[in-house]
Amino acid sequence: MNDFIQKMTQHVSVRSFVDEPLPAATKEELLKAANSASSSNFVQAFSIIEITDEQKRQQLGEIANCPEYVVHSGTFYVFVADLYRQKCLLEKAKQSLAGIKNMEALLVSVIDATIAAQNMAVAAESLDLGICYIGGIRNDLEQVSGILELPEYTVPILGMTVGIPTKKNEIKPRMTLEQKVAQNSYDKTKFTDLSNYQQVTAAYYAARNSNQQQTDWLQKNIDFFSEVRRPDVGAFLQKQGFELK
Ligand SMILES: Cc1cc2nc3c(=O)[nH]c(=O)nc-3n(C[C@H](O)[C@H](O)[C@H](O)COP(=O)(O)O)c2cc1C
Repeated sequence: MNDFIQKMTQHVSVRSFVDEPLPAATKEELLKAANSASSSNFVQAFSIIEITDEQKRQQLGEIANCPEYVVHSGTFYVFVADLYRQKCLLEKAKQSLAGIKNMEALLVSVIDATIAAQNMAVAAESLDLGICYIGGIRNDLEQVSGILELPEYTVPILGMTVGIPTKKNEIKPRMTLEQKVAQNSYDKTKFTDLSNYQQVTAAYYAARNSNQQQTDWLQKNIDFFSEVRRPDVGAFLQKQGFELK
Protein backbone atom coordinates (compact mmCIF):
# COMPACT_ATOMS: atom_id res chain seq x y z
CA MET A 1 0.00 0.00 0.00
CA ASN A 2 1.49 3.40 -0.91
CA ASP A 3 1.60 6.31 1.54
CA PHE A 4 -1.34 8.05 -0.11
CA ILE A 5 -3.68 5.09 0.24
CA GLN A 6 -2.34 4.32 3.69
CA LYS A 7 -3.35 7.83 4.71
CA MET A 8 -6.83 7.36 3.26
CA THR A 9 -7.33 4.25 5.38
CA GLN A 10 -6.42 6.28 8.49
CA HIS A 11 -9.27 8.77 7.97
CA VAL A 12 -11.17 10.03 11.00
CA SER A 13 -13.47 13.02 11.22
CA VAL A 14 -11.91 15.77 13.32
CA ARG A 15 -14.08 17.83 15.65
CA SER A 16 -11.46 19.79 17.57
CA PHE A 17 -9.15 22.25 15.83
CA VAL A 18 -6.56 24.93 16.43
CA ASP A 19 -8.66 28.11 16.34
CA GLU A 20 -6.60 29.89 13.68
CA PRO A 21 -7.33 30.65 10.02
CA LEU A 22 -5.56 28.46 7.48
CA PRO A 23 -3.01 30.29 5.30
CA ALA A 24 -4.42 31.57 2.01
CA ALA A 25 -1.97 29.40 0.05
CA THR A 26 -3.22 26.24 1.80
CA LYS A 27 -6.84 27.14 1.13
CA GLU A 28 -6.04 27.73 -2.53
CA GLU A 29 -4.46 24.27 -2.77
CA LEU A 30 -7.54 22.69 -1.19
CA LEU A 31 -9.84 24.57 -3.54
CA LYS A 32 -7.76 23.59 -6.58
CA ALA A 33 -7.99 19.95 -5.52
CA ALA A 34 -11.78 20.28 -5.23
CA ASN A 35 -11.99 22.08 -8.56
CA SER A 36 -10.05 19.30 -10.32
CA ALA A 37 -12.56 16.58 -9.45
CA SER A 38 -14.27 14.53 -12.14
CA SER A 39 -17.59 15.95 -13.26
CA SER A 40 -20.47 14.18 -14.93
CA ASN A 41 -20.46 15.27 -18.60
CA PHE A 42 -18.13 18.05 -17.44
CA VAL A 43 -21.11 20.13 -16.35
CA GLN A 44 -19.23 21.26 -13.18
CA ALA A 45 -22.55 21.63 -11.42
CA PHE A 46 -21.29 22.81 -8.05
CA SER A 47 -20.05 25.89 -6.22
CA ILE A 48 -18.08 26.32 -3.01
CA ILE A 49 -18.76 29.14 -0.59
CA GLU A 50 -16.14 29.92 2.04
CA ILE A 51 -17.70 31.42 5.14
CA THR A 52 -15.43 34.21 6.37
CA ASP A 53 -18.17 36.30 7.99
CA GLU A 54 -18.07 35.44 11.72
CA GLN A 55 -21.78 35.97 12.23
CA LYS A 56 -22.75 33.77 9.29
CA ARG A 57 -20.34 31.08 10.46
CA GLN A 58 -21.88 31.16 13.93
CA GLN A 59 -25.38 30.94 12.45
CA LEU A 60 -24.43 27.98 10.24
CA GLY A 61 -22.72 26.25 13.18
CA GLU A 62 -25.85 26.65 15.27
CA ILE A 63 -28.10 25.34 12.49
CA ALA A 64 -25.80 22.30 12.23
CA ASN A 65 -25.75 21.85 16.06
CA CYS A 66 -21.97 21.98 16.20
CA PRO A 67 -20.83 25.62 16.43
CA GLU A 68 -17.63 24.62 18.33
CA TYR A 69 -16.01 22.98 15.35
CA VAL A 70 -17.72 24.98 12.59
CA VAL A 71 -16.64 28.31 14.08
CA HIS A 72 -13.36 27.33 15.75
CA SER A 73 -11.38 25.77 12.92
CA GLY A 74 -9.10 26.82 10.07
CA THR A 75 -11.92 27.51 7.66
CA PHE A 76 -15.46 26.47 6.80
CA TYR A 77 -16.83 25.78 3.33
CA VAL A 78 -20.31 25.06 2.06
CA PHE A 79 -20.58 22.87 -1.03
CA VAL A 80 -23.54 23.76 -3.21
CA ALA A 81 -25.12 21.54 -5.87
CA ASP A 82 -25.52 24.20 -8.51
CA LEU A 83 -27.40 24.32 -11.80
CA TYR A 84 -27.99 28.09 -11.68
CA ARG A 85 -25.23 28.71 -14.27
CA GLN A 86 -26.95 26.30 -16.63
CA LYS A 87 -30.29 27.98 -15.93
CA CYS A 88 -28.82 31.33 -17.02
CA LEU A 89 -27.25 29.78 -20.14
CA LEU A 90 -30.48 28.05 -21.16
CA GLU A 91 -32.55 31.19 -20.62
CA LYS A 92 -30.18 33.26 -22.72
CA ALA A 93 -30.38 30.62 -25.42
CA LYS A 94 -34.20 30.70 -25.12
CA GLN A 95 -34.24 26.97 -24.32
CA SER A 96 -36.54 25.04 -22.00
CA LEU A 97 -35.38 24.52 -18.39
CA ALA A 98 -36.81 20.97 -18.33
CA GLY A 99 -33.29 19.50 -18.58
CA ILE A 100 -32.15 21.04 -15.28
CA LYS A 101 -35.40 20.52 -13.38
CA ASN A 102 -35.49 16.73 -13.35
CA MET A 103 -34.18 14.22 -10.80
CA GLU A 104 -31.27 13.18 -13.00
CA ALA A 105 -29.96 16.76 -13.23
CA LEU A 106 -30.38 17.17 -9.48
CA LEU A 107 -28.47 13.92 -8.87
CA VAL A 108 -25.71 15.02 -11.22
CA SER A 109 -25.24 18.27 -9.33
CA VAL A 110 -25.31 16.55 -5.93
CA ILE A 111 -22.77 13.98 -7.12
CA ASP A 112 -20.50 16.67 -8.63
CA ALA A 113 -20.56 18.69 -5.41
CA THR A 114 -19.91 15.59 -3.29
CA ILE A 115 -16.97 14.42 -5.38
CA ALA A 116 -15.44 17.91 -5.23
CA ALA A 117 -15.85 17.89 -1.45
CA GLN A 118 -14.19 14.51 -1.12
CA ASN A 119 -11.29 15.69 -3.30
CA MET A 120 -10.85 18.54 -0.84
CA ALA A 121 -11.08 16.15 2.12
CA VAL A 122 -8.36 13.87 0.75
CA ALA A 123 -6.17 16.84 -0.15
CA ALA A 124 -6.56 18.28 3.35
CA GLU A 125 -5.69 14.96 4.98
CA SER A 126 -2.64 14.64 2.72
CA LEU A 127 -1.43 17.87 4.38
CA ASP A 128 -2.12 16.39 7.85
CA LEU A 129 -5.09 18.71 8.26
CA GLY A 130 -8.33 17.37 9.67
CA ILE A 131 -11.81 17.71 8.22
CA CYS A 132 -15.37 17.09 9.24
CA TYR A 133 -18.27 17.03 6.81
CA ILE A 134 -21.19 19.04 8.14
CA GLY A 135 -24.43 17.62 6.76
CA GLY A 136 -26.08 19.36 9.70
CA ILE A 137 -26.49 22.47 7.55
CA ARG A 138 -29.45 20.60 6.00
CA ASN A 139 -31.24 20.91 9.35
CA ASP A 140 -32.66 24.15 8.00
CA LEU A 141 -32.16 24.49 4.25
CA GLU A 142 -34.40 27.55 4.04
CA GLN A 143 -32.35 29.47 6.56
CA VAL A 144 -29.03 28.34 5.09
CA SER A 145 -30.08 29.35 1.61
CA GLY A 146 -31.13 32.76 2.98
CA ILE A 147 -27.79 33.24 4.75
CA LEU A 148 -25.88 32.32 1.58
CA GLU A 149 -28.27 34.22 -0.72
CA LEU A 150 -28.63 31.16 -2.91
CA PRO A 151 -30.57 31.47 -6.17
CA GLU A 152 -32.91 28.88 -7.67
CA TYR A 153 -31.50 25.57 -8.93
CA THR A 154 -28.99 25.45 -6.07
CA VAL A 155 -28.91 23.23 -2.98
CA PRO A 156 -26.46 23.59 -0.07
CA ILE A 157 -25.72 19.91 0.38
CA LEU A 158 -22.95 19.87 2.96
CA GLY A 159 -20.42 21.92 4.84
CA MET A 160 -16.81 21.08 5.53
CA THR A 161 -14.82 22.36 8.44
CA VAL A 162 -11.05 22.13 7.95
CA GLY A 163 -8.08 22.85 10.16
CA ILE A 164 -5.17 21.65 12.25
CA PRO A 165 -6.43 18.91 14.57
CA THR A 166 -5.96 19.29 18.32
CA LYS A 167 -7.52 15.90 19.02
CA LYS A 168 -8.17 12.84 16.91
CA ASN A 169 -10.65 10.06 17.55
CA GLU A 170 -9.86 6.41 17.01
CA ILE A 171 -10.54 5.07 13.54
CA LYS A 172 -14.11 3.71 13.33
CA PRO A 173 -14.10 0.08 12.18
CA ARG A 174 -15.68 -0.24 8.74
CA MET A 175 -17.53 -3.31 7.43
CA THR A 176 -15.20 -5.80 5.80
CA LEU A 177 -14.73 -5.76 2.04
CA GLU A 178 -16.69 -9.06 1.89
CA GLN A 179 -19.68 -7.24 3.39
CA LYS A 180 -19.60 -4.48 0.77
CA VAL A 181 -17.95 -5.78 -2.40
CA ALA A 182 -19.21 -8.40 -4.83
CA GLN A 183 -18.40 -9.44 -8.35
CA ASN A 184 -20.90 -9.21 -11.16
CA SER A 185 -24.07 -9.20 -9.09
CA TYR A 186 -25.41 -7.99 -5.77
CA ASP A 187 -24.78 -10.51 -3.01
CA LYS A 188 -27.76 -10.25 -0.64
CA THR A 189 -26.42 -12.94 1.69
CA LYS A 190 -22.93 -11.57 2.19
CA PHE A 191 -24.03 -7.93 2.27
CA THR A 192 -26.52 -8.51 5.08
CA ASP A 193 -24.49 -10.98 7.15
CA LEU A 194 -23.50 -8.44 9.76
CA SER A 195 -23.26 -10.55 12.93
CA ASN A 196 -19.51 -10.18 13.16
CA TYR A 197 -19.82 -6.45 12.47
CA GLN A 198 -22.28 -6.20 15.34
CA GLN A 199 -19.63 -7.62 17.68
CA VAL A 200 -16.81 -5.52 16.26
CA THR A 201 -18.75 -2.28 16.55
CA ALA A 202 -20.20 -3.12 20.00
CA ALA A 203 -16.61 -3.57 21.20
CA TYR A 204 -15.59 -0.30 19.52
CA TYR A 205 -18.41 1.77 21.05
CA ALA A 206 -17.85 0.25 24.51
CA ALA A 207 -14.10 0.85 24.57
CA ARG A 208 -13.49 4.07 22.64
CA ASN A 209 -11.79 6.96 24.40
CA SER A 210 -14.78 9.30 24.53
CA ASN A 211 -18.57 9.04 24.42
CA GLN A 212 -18.59 5.29 25.19
CA GLN A 213 -21.93 3.62 24.45
CA GLN A 214 -23.62 0.25 24.89
CA THR A 215 -24.71 -0.11 21.30
CA ASP A 216 -23.53 -1.37 17.93
CA TRP A 217 -23.77 -0.31 14.27
CA LEU A 218 -26.89 -2.37 13.61
CA GLN A 219 -28.78 -0.88 16.54
CA LYS A 220 -27.66 2.62 15.59
CA ASN A 221 -29.03 2.17 12.10
CA ILE A 222 -32.32 0.78 13.35
CA ASP A 223 -32.65 3.80 15.64
CA PHE A 224 -31.55 6.26 12.94
CA PHE A 225 -33.87 5.03 10.21
CA SER A 226 -36.84 4.46 12.52
CA GLU A 227 -37.47 8.18 12.11
CA VAL A 228 -38.03 10.22 8.98
CA ARG A 229 -35.21 12.75 8.93
CA ARG A 230 -35.49 16.27 7.55
CA PRO A 231 -38.94 15.82 6.02
CA ASP A 232 -38.85 19.34 4.58
CA VAL A 233 -35.98 18.62 2.15
CA GLY A 234 -38.33 17.65 -0.69
CA ALA A 235 -40.35 20.86 -0.39
CA PHE A 236 -37.13 22.93 -0.38
CA LEU A 237 -35.89 21.20 -3.53
CA GLN A 238 -39.21 21.95 -5.24
CA LYS A 239 -39.00 25.57 -4.15
CA GLN A 240 -35.56 25.75 -5.76
CA GLY A 241 -37.12 24.70 -9.05
CA PHE A 242 -36.56 20.94 -9.10
CA GLU A 243 -39.52 18.78 -10.08
CA LEU A 244 -38.37 15.59 -8.29
CA LYS A 245 -39.32 13.31 -11.16
C1 LIG B 1 -22.24 13.80 4.12
C2 LIG B 1 -21.75 13.74 5.55
C3 LIG B 1 -22.31 14.58 6.49
C4 LIG B 1 -21.83 14.59 7.80
N1 LIG B 1 -22.34 15.49 8.68
C5 LIG B 1 -21.80 15.59 9.92
C6 LIG B 1 -22.25 16.60 10.82
O1 LIG B 1 -23.14 17.40 10.51
N2 LIG B 1 -21.65 16.69 12.02
C7 LIG B 1 -20.66 15.84 12.41
O2 LIG B 1 -20.15 15.98 13.53
N3 LIG B 1 -20.21 14.86 11.58
C8 LIG B 1 -20.75 14.73 10.35
N4 LIG B 1 -20.28 13.77 9.47
C9 LIG B 1 -19.19 12.88 9.87
C10 LIG B 1 -19.69 11.45 10.13
O3 LIG B 1 -20.35 11.42 11.36
C11 LIG B 1 -18.47 10.53 10.11
O4 LIG B 1 -17.87 10.55 8.83
C12 LIG B 1 -18.87 9.10 10.46
O5 LIG B 1 -19.33 9.00 11.78
C13 LIG B 1 -17.67 8.16 10.32
O6 LIG B 1 -16.64 8.59 11.18
P1 LIG B 1 -15.20 8.96 10.63
O7 LIG B 1 -15.36 9.99 9.56
O8 LIG B 1 -14.44 9.48 11.83
O9 LIG B 1 -14.61 7.69 10.12
C14 LIG B 1 -20.78 13.71 8.19
C15 LIG B 1 -20.24 12.86 7.22
C16 LIG B 1 -20.70 12.87 5.92
C17 LIG B 1 -20.07 11.96 4.91
